[in-house]
Amino acid sequence: MRVYFDYNATTPLAPDVIEIVARASRDIFGNASSVHRFGQQAKAMLDDARSSVAALVGGDPSEVVFTSGGTEADNFALRGAAEALEPTGRRHLIASAIEHEAVLNTLRALSRRHWQITLLPVDGSGIVSPDRLRESITDDTAIVSVMHANNEIGTIQPIAALADIAHARGALLHTDAVQSVGKIPVDVRALGVDLLSLSAHKFNGPKGAGALWIKRGTRMQPTMTGGKHERNRRAGTENVPAIAGLGVAAQLAADKLKTEAPRVAALRDRLEQRILATVPGTAVNGRRDERVPNTTNISFDRVEAESLLIALDLEGVAVSTGSACSSGTLEPSHVLKAMGLPPHRTQNSLRFSLGTYSTDAEVDCVADILPRLVEKLRGLTRKAV
Ligand SMILES: Cc1ncc(COP(=O)(O)O)c(C=O)c1O
Repeated sequence: MRVYFDYNATTPLAPDVIEIVARASRDIFGNASSVHRFGQQAKAMLDDARSSVAALVGGDPSEVVFTSGGTEADNFALRGAAEALEPTGRRHLIASAIEHEAVLNTLRALSRRHWQITLLPVDGSGIVSPDRLRESITDDTAIVSVMHANNEIGTIQPIAALADIAHARGALLHTDAVQSVGKIPVDVRALGVDLLSLSAHKFNGPKGAGALWIKRGTRMQPTMTGGKHERNRRAGTENVPAIAGLGVAAQLAADKLKTEAPRVAALRDRLEQRILATVPGTAVNGRRDERVPNTTNISFDRVEAESLLIALDLEGVAVSTGSACSSGTLEPSHVLKAMGLPPHRTQNSLRFSLGTYSTDAEVDCVADILPRLVEKLRGLTRKAV
């Protein structure tokens, strides 16, 4: 049996998405900016997708700018808003310490251009406290960027409260909602945000397609300059098949959200409970009640996460580590480190992320094989010592 429990990395395409991508690739080859019928057919596809994406996040279609994915949406949000706000004299940006690299490395780049950066700490359960933002924000702060759901541990941040604090000091609030859109209800008005990033391939859409939702009236400088596409906000001929796929994925996600979220949560909870009950020395990382329904991050004492990941892969099970392996050295997860977890928790954690096509049988399969694999690896470690 092959089990894919790495939905936070990416998801399989929904059959309806494959169909629209194929149809658009085959039949709708016009340039959406062309005046003739071929162009207008392509534009109609973009319009449909824009409406579906807007509906999924509670925005207006005119506020949706298509991008090449979550990374570009985050770059555009931060660089575009920062540049537009330069004339105000504000030079301070705030983000949480557990942001995705798409945000963290963009902030690093901006810090080399005289922007001051503050990273907000998280508590031991992986949540940003509004009080920490209150302490850090100043009249010099231009943008506060806090992710909606974390990609490693799934915790959901109190975005509405953070947005109120940001707005009270005249700052914008950007949220990277790449890991929440399609998994839980996301409503830009209820969250009170100014900018929101999303990515199609995290909810059964194609890779290389995403969007930045920009609240009407928000001043932005385009980061991709060129033609007048996307109402002058993002230049470049639109990737119509991928965007059409994003639109269908958004529609499917909206239709299924009410039934899918509890179904996936029940699978995730059963997997988690079985692992905690049958594998000694395990603990869940991050707050369990404020999480997206599909994610659990579990530390396994005295087992190297990479070894367990490989052992699982050999059994046909795909999961992910909470740590990134860079140039041969194991870097502990910056998220778990920011939560203040000790090294035996930060280095030994695995992320299990489930989704649309996950089943009870898959949960049983993983829960059945894990105790044996962990015991074997712990035995090897003991012998090596
Ligand atoms: C929280 C978060 N932000 C941004 C991204 C980047 O999105 P994309 O892969 O579409 O560039 C990811 C992808 O892993 C993510 O999890």
